[in-house]
Order: sequence, then C-alpha cells, then structure tokens
Amino acid sequence: MAEIVIIGSMNMDFVINCDRLPEPGETLTGRSFARHPGGKGANQAAAAGLLGARPLFIGARGADEIGQSLEDNLNHQGVETELITADTETGTAHIFVTDDGESHIIVIPGANGTLDNGDIRSVATEIQEAKILLLQLEIPLEAVMEAARIAAEAGTTVILDPAPAQELPDELLERVDYLLPNETELKMLTGSAEIEAACNQLLTRGVKNIIVTLGDKGALLINAEGEKDFAAPEVEAVDTTAAGDALAGAFAAALNKGLEPEEAVREGIYYGSAAVSRPGAQSSLFSSAEFAEFLNSRSE
Ligand SMILES: Nc1ncnc2c1ncn2[C@@H]1O[C@H](COP(=O)(O)OP(=O)(O)OP(=O)(O)O)[C@@H](O)[C@H]1O
Ligand SMILES: [Mg+2]
Repeated sequence: MAEIVIIGSMNMDFVINCDRLPEPGETLTGRSFARHPGGKGANQAAAAGLLGARPLFIGARGADEIGQSLEDNLNHQGVETELITADTETGTAHIFVTDDGESHIIVIPGANGTLDNGDIRSVATEIQEAKILLLQLEIPLEAVMEAARIAAEAGTTVILDPAPAQELPDELLERVDYLLPNETELKMLTGSAEIEAACNQLLTRGVKNIIVTLGDKGALLINAEGEKDFAAPEVEAVDTTAAGDALAGAFAAALNKGLEPEEAVREGIYYGSAAVSRPGAQSSLFSSAEFAEFLNSRSE
C-alpha cells in the first residue's frame, strides 16, 4: 500500500506558439506545437514519484491514446496509478501562447470531471491505509470532500492545494491538516487580501496549518503556534509553471520521510524553486539525484 495517495486531475496540454490569436473566421498559421503531460494532480504525483516516495495517483482517464500516454508517463516517474476509466475523453488543456507572452487557455476536464463520491468510496481502503492524502481542486468538489472525509476519519494527514481558486465549505476546511494557498487563492478563500487576517480566519474555521506560497519570496507557515517565514533560494527564473505543484509534491514526500513540518516546508520551497529554473511543467521537475545536487550547490 502506498504511503502517499494523490487524488486529482491528469491532462494533456496542447501548446501552440503563434504571433497572435486569429480574428473570428480567420485562419492563421502558427509556429510550433507540442504536447506535455499536465494536470495539478499528476504534476504533484510526478514530483513525489521522482523524489522516490512511491506515491499512488488516483484519477480518471478516457479509454483513449492520450489517457494511456499519461498513465505510462506517470509510471515512468515512479508513480503507481489507479485510474478509473470514464465514459468520456481524457482531460486536455489547449494553450495558445502569443508573441506578447500571454497564454490563452481552454481546459476540457473530460474524465477529470466525472470523478464522484462513488469513485472515491471505491478507493476508501487506499485512503485509509495511506499516511498522507494530497488533494487539489481540478476534480469535482464532492469527490475532494469525500476523500478528505474518509482520510480525516482514518487519521490520514490531509494536504490540500486549493487551486484553482474558489471558496470552500468549512466542512472541508476543518479536515485539512495543511492548506497550500498562494496569495490569490488565500484572498478567494477568505475575502481578505491581508495575509494574517485571512489565515486567522482559516485557523478559526478549522484548518490546522497554512502554507502561503509567495513566489520568489518563498512561503509562510502559519498555525496556532504562530508564523514562520522561509525564503526561496535565488534561481534564474526560466518558467514558473508547476512551481506550486513541485512544492506540494515535495512537501508531501518530505513529511512522509518523517521530517518536521518546518523542514518539509523548506524542502518543498527549494524543490519548487529548482523547478522554476527549467522550462515546462512536469519536464521542469528534478529527480532526487538532481535535487540533491541542487541543494548541495546552494549550501556551499
Ligand atoms: N521566481 C522564483 N524564484 C525562485 N523561486 C520561485 C519563483 N517562483 C516560484 N518559486 C518557488 O515555487 C514556490 C511556489 O511558487 P508560487 O508561490 O508561485 O506558487 P503558485 O502560485 O501556487 O504556483 P502554481 O501556479 O504553479 O500553482 C515558491 O514558494 C518558491 O519556492
Ligand atoms: Mg498553486
């Protein structure tokens, strides 16, 4: 049985580089096309897998070639998979990157959108026997809530990355041991743009620990005992895509190794920053050997 279970989204990103978007009715020739495995759940699972945590990823795919390719890709990164085959296509994201640097994105949730309470109950044993359950919000909220409920009852530690940003019921928040919002998500969750006020509200609503990620400024760990801040290492920022996912997966892996929460936050931040120094989402994630070298080079 896996000690870390990740339940969430998996999708293929289809990325087109072009000068500009076409006008209505216009056809343009773009410059390049690439496809990359993505989805917050899969990215976070890949991070934990590459770090040697042997996580289990639970999600949904279609009975199609994209789904197979995403599953193989996770397995190659040290992630076990238990995927429900949905009666629809695997999730995809269609991304147009224009010369002004803007991304224009349409997400088709596909199979990700089909996960329901029944699917989650069918994997209750895996959740109950895990030490850590890692969740995000790219699958239906009812599935996230059911997973957190089963985990909390069994004493499995619940980590929630509340992205994409949305408001959440107290019934979910009170089951969260570690909440990992960025500043935008924190404001959406609480209505408050002030970090301390927002976190106090969340603690009152039952969240046990909040890790507020602050991009190049690192992160804060806030709980009933107070607030600690952790600086991010300086890196040449090449592409911040999946930085937060890298942090989440590495934090879960570090906690699972038995590190104290402060140490696990620090490790998560460093792993997130390492990912910023390379292009892409999953392609930017470091293996454990590469990460050890990255840490070494920072402590000299
Ligand atoms: N420019 C940067 N330089 C160094 N480290 C960075 C930079 N941007 C992000 N990081 C690292 O990645 C972590 C997570 O980044 P961020 O706070 O941007 O998460 P996020 O907004 O949730 O990102 P995502 O969109 O990937 O979910 C930070 O805590 C930090 O360690
Ligand atoms: Mg994030």
